[in-house]
Amino acid sequence: MSLAIPSKPANKRSEASITPPSVQHELERSLLADKAYTSPKYLYDAVGSVLFDAICEIPEYYPTRTEAGIFQQYMSEIAHAIGPHSTLIDLGAGNCRKAARLFPLLHPNQYVPIDISIKYLEDAVQRLQQRFPYIEMTALGLDFSQPWTLPNEICSDKRLFFYPGSSIGNFEPSQAKTFLHHLRSECHSDGGLLIGIDLIKDHTTLVHAYDDALGVTAAFNLNLLRHINQILGADFNVHQWRHHALFNTTHSRIEMHLEARTAHTVTWDNAHRHFLAGEKIHTENSYKYSLESFLSLLESAGFGQAQYWTDSENWFAVVYAKAL
Ligand code: AVI
Repeated sequence: MSLAIPSKPANKRSEASITPPSVQHELERSLLADKAYTSPKYLYDAVGSVLFDAICEIPEYYPTRTEAGIFQQYMSEIAHAIGPHSTLIDLGAGNCRKAARLFPLLHPNQYVPIDISIKYLEDAVQRLQQRFPYIEMTALGLDFSQPWTLPNEICSDKRLFFYPGSSIGNFEPSQAKTFLHHLRSECHSDGGLLIGIDLIKDHTTLVHAYDDALGVTAAFNLNLLRHINQILGADFNVHQWRHHALFNTTHSRIEMHLEARTAHTVTWDNAHRHFLAGEKIHTENSYKYSLESFLSLLESAGFGQAQYWTDSENWFAVVYAKAL
């Protein structure tokens, strides 16, 4: 696999015509902030999504395989705890592969995969529907960073929200609580949540997972600059930046940053930003929880009677909690 990424400044707004002005303004504001930052959602353009899939395959990035191992080992216990005939709502479904592994034991009545990228999702669902013709499937394109509700066509009985991969860790804890609270409001008292949580562990393991030897995560982070070039018509030069990952103990989170190698100015439209050598753009947080702190977050959002399954090293947990 070649991960070479053309780093020539785009300086052309190839996506600008389809990017709403509000999104461009939000991005511009964050780049012009005292401490520049960007929303992690900009990591995922077409190249970013491929790079993220590659991250899930590298040895240092333990969450994907550890979570898969937990599901493989405990799937019948998990299915027994949940029971059959749920309305399975897959949040950030992507290629739907993780949910599809649950079907044979969980026997959902309806499968509702949701993703920001509806085209990619529809293709995946079409293929899945052929394998499981007896499960009703409805794909939805939603951006969880915007207000959302499930449409009426989605069965309201026994809604089970499925949120694997520790994606909840990419929310600030207060946003995570609001998000979980919203999930609770989208189900009745027969509903529940099946979620993957990345647990606090030794810092070396954590940092290597976000700064791997092959540089796949570095490419994933740097690709954000090309995406910004497309959205804003900016002239970020990938060569001028380096990837930096660290564990912030105070906030219990991995932080990803892009650090300017040299002082230079980036321009777009009528705006520009001068970056000093060593100045950073904060591109992602990935919060790590203890089981206790996550279970109490769940309780505060209206989910309880939690059951959980972990790997032998307690690196990752799969939690099933019922709507209270
Ligand atoms: C999608 N999310 C759970 C990943 C994480 O671990 O926070 C995104 C990621 N960022 C760098 N590597 C993986």
